[in-house]
Amino acid sequence: MGITRIGHLDINVLDINESRDYYENIMGMKVTREDKDGTLYLKCWDEWDKYSMILRPSEEATFNRIAFKVRNDSDLDDLKKKIEDYGTPTTMLPAGEIADCGRVLTMKLPSGHTFDLYAEKAFIGKDVGDLNPAPWPINGKGIKAHWLDHSLLMCQGPEAVMATTKFFEEVFDFKLTEQVTAGPDGSLQAATWLSCSSTPHDIAFVAGPEIGLHHIAFFLDGWNDILRAADVMAMNEVKMDLTPQRHGITRGETIYFFDPSGHRLETFAGLGYFVQPDMPVVTWDEDHLWRGIFYHTGQEVGAFTTAYTLAAYK
Ligand SMILES: [Fe+2]
Repeated sequence: MGITRIGHLDINVLDINESRDYYENIMGMKVTREDKDGTLYLKCWDEWDKYSMILRPSEEATFNRIAFKVRNDSDLDDLKKKIEDYGTPTTMLPAGEIADCGRVLTMKLPSGHTFDLYAEKAFIGKDVGDLNPAPWPINGKGIKAHWLDHSLLMCQGPEAVMATTKFFEEVFDFKLTEQVTAGPDGSLQAATWLSCSSTPHDIAFVAGPEIGLHHIAFFLDGWNDILRAADVMAMNEVKMDLTPQRHGITRGETIYFFDPSGHRLETFAGLGYFVQPDMPVVTWDEDHLWRGIFYHTGQEVGAFTTAYTLAAYK
């Protein structure tokens, strides 16, 4: 009964045409579906399913839902029972209710975020194909993001982070890889990073005042690609709140920047490290929080913890 990977993010954006231009020409994604109401579905060149981002035209830039993919359709029935036995209500949406997907098992996480699981989504294939493929698409645009890598969600306080982390460990069999501890004797988890694969994180949670979306990260190969991506962003006057740097937490090489609606995005490069089930949990204490986030400077950056996208619901 396996959750295999992150599938897609569904967000509201302010100007759909500006967003289309940004995600196509700067991120290097392609629109694969467009609904009558203007909603856009996009994929990266190295992804094979039909989309990993849903952009809905709106008057508010907010977060709707996040979805992960499971291995088999029957996993949804097994997980429904396991989740409900844990005390969390679920709803099974019929095939097609979420665009181009099979059945979707939806729920509210302990944090309050809407979380979806699905097994089937329309297949398109990588832009380079799967027979004698080129290593990258010669006609790719912008930073040529490979794939949706992970997301960090904001929870209301450490209690919500801890409850949601426990849920992912006990119900979804994710592995806790890193944590920031706080409070008396470090007894609280102020932030956690969890993996369902071999990478340092597929999802992360951090404590804040309101539930929301802190950032959506896209994978790039390595440090040179990060440098080139920052050049592309500068040429296009993309607002950044962090120029290229290394994370202490996860060891990723990173840039934080914003889309035209103010959603924070990240380019995350490098393997970080290889996660095995018996790897010890890495802990960062409160005094080393900023070293964990921005390893080189070790200093707080601007509105990093206060500026983020709120959920479209309370
Ligand atoms: Fe990240």
